[in-house]
Amino acid sequence: MTVDGEKVSDDVEPRMLLVQYLREKVGKTGTVIGCDTSNCGACTVHLDGRSVKSCNVLAVQADGHEVTTIEGLMKDGELHPVQAAFHNCHALQCGFCTPGMIMQSIDLLNDNPSPTEAEIRLGLEGNLCRCTGYHNIVRAVQEASGVSTSSTTGAGSTSGAGATS
Ligand code: FES
Ligand code: FES
Repeated sequence: MTVDGEKVSDDVEPRMLLVQYLREKVGKTGTVIGCDTSNCGACTVHLDGRSVKSCNVLAVQADGHEVTTIEGLMKDGELHPVQAAFHNCHALQCGFCTPGMIMQSIDLLNDNPSPTEAEIRLGLEGNLCRCTGYHNIVRAVQEASGVSTSSTTGAGSTSGAGATS
């Protein structure tokens, strides 16, 4: 498979989860395990450009496919616009849910570049945060909305530091 633009190849046990493969074999520890039961969304990555919970995918199911993790979003030293929006809006406290939140938010914005607050909350319902109360996470997605959010086309500009809508 391709992980963050680099080809990787291994023999793995059929039962190995994609998240285990990414962390233990490829060293992509930015993708984290919060529950291991497909509830929390902390392990969210992109598989061929769409978000998946990588604890709910076998590593062998990604054979021949393209995986993007939180570590593959930054381009040329620039944060991805959604990463920048999370930073600008202080949309994290402990940060444990943040990789999954960002990967899911990018997928959400690719589908709906100008979501309402209700649509953002619905789009993120599979991602749990124990810290923030979600308000600043929603603000970050609102800030990022309307800018290029593709995980494969590199970073663009944010719609304005600290801006809210
Ligand atoms: S670790 Fe995958 S959903 Fe919680
Ligand atoms: S910032 Fe701590 S779990 Fe979300």
